[in-house]
Amino acid sequence: MSFDPATLRKEFPTLQREVDGRRLVYLDSAASSQTPQPVLDAMAEYYEQLRSNVERGVYRISEVATGRYEQARERLARFVGAPATDGVVFTKNVTEAINLVAYSWVRRRLGPGDALLITGMEHHANFVPWWHAAQDQGFELRVVPITDGYELDLDAARALLADGRVRFLAVAHVSNVLGTINPVDALIAMAREANPDVVTLVDGAQAAPHFPVDVAALDCDFYGVTGHKMCGPTGIGALIAKPERLEEMPPFLTGGSMILDVSVDEVTWNHPPHRFEAATPPIAEAFGLEAACDYLDAVGMEQIRTHERDLVTTFVDALRATEGVTVYGPLDAEHRSGAISFAVDGVHPHDLGAMLDGYGVCIRVGHHCAKPLMRTLGVNATARASLYLYNDTDDLAPLLDGIAAARSLFAR
Ligand SMILES: Cc1ncc(COP(=O)(O)O)c(C=O)c1O
Repeated sequence: MSFDPATLRKEFPTLQREVDGRRLVYLDSAASSQTPQPVLDAMAEYYEQLRSNVERGVYRISEVATGRYEQARERLARFVGAPATDGVVFTKNVTEAINLVAYSWVRRRLGPGDALLITGMEHHANFVPWWHAAQDQGFELRVVPITDGYELDLDAARALLADGRVRFLAVAHVSNVLGTINPVDALIAMAREANPDVVTLVDGAQAAPHFPVDVAALDCDFYGVTGHKMCGPTGIGALIAKPERLEEMPPFLTGGSMILDVSVDEVTWNHPPHRFEAATPPIAEAFGLEAACDYLDAVGMEQIRTHERDLVTTFVDALRATEGVTVYGPLDAEHRSGAISFAVDGVHPHDLGAMLDGYGVCIRVGHHCAKPLMRTLGVNATARASLYLYNDTDDLAPLLDGIAAARSLFAR
């Protein structure tokens, strides 16, 4: 199948609409992607044909819905190359996946004298749960700094690992602000060299939607994804784990569906992954997520990556050539994904965002839930344009027009 963003766009209903008579130019997929029709159809199929609860009904439609819910688990496992379907726990989003690990693994196993290593480019979702746990449990939080080229400083990481006290590593596969694709395999290897028992978590929120991910090859203990950034529905994400890690963990949320037996005196937990899926799960969303995996694989993850790599180069080059624009992020497209943060001299990012809205262009402005990184960059906020499979060079001119208009209005 040839890769043509203009044709792909036709499958995304929201991209068909206009804003004030202008084509909607969606450059905010790092916040949340658009949803293609097959995903909407899969969710409608559940609501129209199979509406029932799962994992408990003895009648036909519930059994079929349960089968489809479990099939979605298997599909996601295959999509990210997970070592085992039983290692896939559905959550509300990647934030919940990370909190599950923070509460059920890290808080129970790390204490004074231990250290947990994160990086200076984490989203709050992969920062605050560890910070909070460190405060409560008395372990040390260490942070890998960032180089002037907006990449992880691996020499500094090696030094931070050297004393062998790092028992847990949590790192973003791709930065939501800088677009940097982190060498997580190298970092994991380095952490294991320093401490063979280190446990590792990769936040794949900005990776799984954009290039082929092979969790088994990464050999991390935990990998987190979130459906709404990968053409799937809101309200579903997943923790993808080595099954033996999940076996070690008590539940995080308790209630229905996650038990084997309950009496007044004793409760026995269900086996993973059900141990971690208390109550009624996101059923329609699992149908949608399965369809999203099918959709992305049909388009081709390699092709999506190639397209985004080329497009990001075009966008970054054009932005850097624009007077007054500073881009924050690696220049080498091999090391970056399609999230492009930038500043425009004399224009507050929020004014820029509002101006661009008038051009039908949707970008994200603010701290991007990465305040430690904003502090390193020495800014309160940036503007961020982020690319996905349905963007192409047609989306560049409206962005540049809006920037020029903002500069002539504000930067005088
Ligand atoms: C790198 C990264 N991690 C985590 C998250 C949190 O995702 P969610 O809100 O779906 O939990 C985001 C969202 O922007 C992200 O970009």
